[in-house]
Amino acid sequence: MGSSQVPKISTSYAMEPADKFPLTDECKHYEGKHQVPWDIQKYFAQRYSIFSWYDEGVYMTDDAWFGVTPEPVANQIAREMTTIDSSKDTLIDVFAGAGGNTIAFALTKRWKRIIAIERDTSTLACAQNNAELYEVDPSVITWIHADSFEYLDILHNRPEELHPDLRIDVSSTVLFASPPWGGPGYRTDEVFDLTNMQPYNLDKLHSSYRRMDHVLYLPRTSDIRQVAELAPGERKVDVVQYCMEGASKAMVAFIPGCGSEGS
Ligand SMILES: C[S@@+](CC[C@H](N)C(=O)[O-])C[C@H]1O[C@@H](n2cnc3c(N)ncnc32)[C@H](O)[C@@H]1O
Repeated sequence: MGSSQVPKISTSYAMEPADKFPLTDECKHYEGKHQVPWDIQKYFAQRYSIFSWYDEGVYMTDDAWFGVTPEPVANQIAREMTTIDSSKDTLIDVFAGAGGNTIAFALTKRWKRIIAIERDTSTLACAQNNAELYEVDPSVITWIHADSFEYLDILHNRPEELHPDLRIDVSSTVLFASPPWGGPGYRTDEVFDLTNMQPYNLDKLHSSYRRMDHVLYLPRTSDIRQVAELAPGERKVDVVQYCMEGASKAMVAFIPGCGSEGS
């Protein structure tokens, strides 16, 4: 045998699918009110409306309680999205959080692939745990531990830098976004000015999502005129208020994409 060896070629990509993350100290499963920080107690009291399988071993970070989509709302949105034109077979959940929406989407079995992106390690570990608990088919969801704006930028402009499993056909994809709702006025204003939403305002979201059909999960008091302005050309935007026990939880806008035109 000669001394020459075939060099191993290792390719590294700007982004790769996430492995299964272990739960961290930030991932909690509270069993009694006495364990729960005061500012979460109101949400803990509603834990079974948030995740009906809470007791089976749902984990959340303390921050995730504030943003998770309650299960009945997530299920209703997921059901309605099953009627989207069947040429769309891939869904991206750009703010996966603790998995509330991602799990509901996967359970409909409507989507061939779901790309679920979360940039916080512990929150992603909770989402993966919760998806497993809800017996979601693990081959359907590809998790990404990253900034979703960065993922979309690479997908649109330099797809060859993505791991092959993350290169998706934008024309057959629908994007769902449930961004953080921070900002002055979101809880108090009669009409919430979406230019003030933090850390990402409506312009920031729309400029990243506009090429794809996208669904925005927004505060219930969002300024509907600002949402209507996102309709491309003569197309229309559908807006639905999702309620639980007679009270609206969120406004959801279904916005057609404008393809690659004008990008
Ligand atoms: C409102 S929560 C989403 C809740 C989720 N729909 C659920 O039901 O669990 C927003 C999530 O987006 C994450 N996030 C914020 N900015 C992000 C970004 N640029 N890329 C990816 N994830 C981000 C936050 O860490 C947070 O977990």
